Amino acid sequence: MAISETYLDELISRSDIADVVGSYVNLSKRSGSNLFGLCPFHNEKTPSFSVSPEKQIYHCFGCGKGGGVINFIMEIEGLGFQDAVAFLARRAGMPPPEDGSSEETRSRRGRLLDLNKDAARFYYQVLNSPAGAEAMSYMQRRQIDAPTAVRFGLGAAPDAWTELLKAMKAKGYNEQEMFEAGLIKRGKNGGFYDTFRNRLMFPVIDIRGSVLGFSGRALGDSEPKYLNSPDTPVFNKSKNLFAINLAKKCKDGPFILCEGNIDVVSLHQAGFTGAVASLGTSLTSDQARLLSRYTDQVVLAYDGDAAGIKAADRAIKIFEQLGMKVRVLRINGAKDPDEYIKRFGADAFRNLIQGSPDKLDYQIAQIRAKYDVSSDAGRLSFLNDITVLLSQVSNSIEREVYAAKISEEMGVSKDAILSEAKKIISRRLRKQKQKTEQMNMRPGQNRQPADRDIRYTDPVSASAEEGVLRLLMLDPTLLPLTDDLKEGDFSSPFLFRVLTLIRKKLADHSDVTPATLCRDLTSSEASRLTAILDKPENISEGKKAMNDYLIKIRYRKIENETTQDLAQMAELIKKKKGMGIADE
Ligand code: UTP
Ligand code: MN
Repeated sequence: MAISETYLDELISRSDIADVVGSYVNLSKRSGSNLFGLCPFHNEKTPSFSVSPEKQIYHCFGCGKGGGVINFIMEIEGLGFQDAVAFLARRAGMPPPEDGSSEETRSRRGRLLDLNKDAARFYYQVLNSPAGAEAMSYMQRRQIDAPTAVRFGLGAAPDAWTELLKAMKAKGYNEQEMFEAGLIKRGKNGGFYDTFRNRLMFPVIDIRGSVLGFSGRALGDSEPKYLNSPDTPVFNKSKNLFAINLAKKCKDGPFILCEGNIDVVSLHQAGFTGAVASLGTSLTSDQARLLSRYTDQVVLAYDGDAAGIKAADRAIKIFEQLGMKVRVLRINGAKDPDEYIKRFGADAFRNLIQGSPDKLDYQIAQIRAKYDVSSDAGRLSFLNDITVLLSQVSNSIEREVYAAKISEEMGVSKDAILSEAKKIISRRLRKQKQKTEQMNMRPGQNRQPADRDIRYTDPVSASAEEGVLRLLMLDPTLLPLTDDLKEGDFSSPFLFRVLTLIRKKLADHSDVTPATLCRDLTSSEASRLTAILDKPENISEGKKAMNDYLIKIRYRKIENETTQDLAQMAELIKKKKGMGIADE
């Protein structure tokens, strides 16, 4: 019944969504990277149906329908999943999906995972046998102790061509399976040989404990230094994090993202069990999202070299889009966390984390390093960059604090710095407002949103909070009015997350549209948000409406707190009475 994931991947990659949708809908409008047209699923006069060629999804702001290319065909052709797949396959010139292969497919994935696990056992045994002596001594040279090696399931690939191949054959796996798992390669003369030879092996294990693939460190100077499993039906480097299987159990953090496998191993050994690494790729949003399931704060511990600094900048952006707090470690006197811990010890590293600047301090230091601030020209350029940076800070108090710091340092008035930053902000908000108006994103009137999934601690306040979000979408210049809103003011973490996203996007000069927000949300969250934004909103008196909402939120908060206090008081009186103490 189910169709293999590889087949679906291929089908989707051969069925460009803009092409497919384009044969039903005229997608002649463009806004940012999205195409717009009239929604085929409900009646409308102005286009609110968007297609993102980049994300390969569609989404209608009017009726809330959305999904990928297969959903689209199901919806528009009225087909079931299987038939929609067959339909697209014909269109893409692919053979039809094989029927009844579900068991087969599932068991094939299961087979590959079993094979990987057996391979990990094999490498582990080799490490602890004479054939693994060289890897063992390398491991010891890197000061990885035995319990740590066990915790990570480290192993050794023997210095030979077909040892793994033979061992796995003896366990009943065939060459096709080993090839598919990336464990063996095909030689020029058609024979197979082991992919990993003479390496220290790090299994990559997911949160469920499945071995997805391997990363092998050369024992000497041979190239490449690290060899990773290729992408396979069970392994996708850009979606997994090394050591997430261990880090996910880390209760009180900190979660630390570093570059190298050995950094992670060293950190865990030193007691920092929240350390993970992306697998030789720069951080992807999938990886950040994976981490965000366990924490909302992360410490970046990238190498101190130019590449590491660049990677950190990228990672900061990605984490911020998810509303995560980021601190950036400055590693001085060592090239990476592993070396640092070995040289200065775990306590020094802990201090480093505690003293690590939050990202704004870090970014200011980065800018400072770019210019010679002893010259007038250098100071000017520095201040220029700083005002741009400050204009991206959404919290006005934070802006003020940093402006004061810079003012003292540079001998320029704080107000001058702030007013320059504010100019940039207003310019940006004006532009954003124009854009929103152009897109004619009025809330659709023809739909009652389905609120069933939304759970709010206080529905009265929640309706006002939703209003705040709607107004911001329609008129981003209202943003400063909401500067004081904190997480605690919201009736659900979800609503606050949306506000954080809006703040971030405005600060980053990004488009703020339902679609851009939806990109950062799960599909059920996206539908929730669509429902909220679809409710009618009056923006003719936006400022007044915003203030009314804010007052309502504040009022409800006071009311709730008072109710709580009263309840506590009643409880206290009851207790006193119970203890025979008279009420004074
Ligand atoms: P580094 O070159 O910084 O290595 O690569 P490292 O972690 O300091 O290595 P050691 O300490 O010398 O053992 C960082 C990460 O980039 C990936 C690996 O995941 C590595 O841990 N990488 C590096 C590769 O995938 N391939 C390579 O050839 C090198
Ligand atoms: Mn290293």
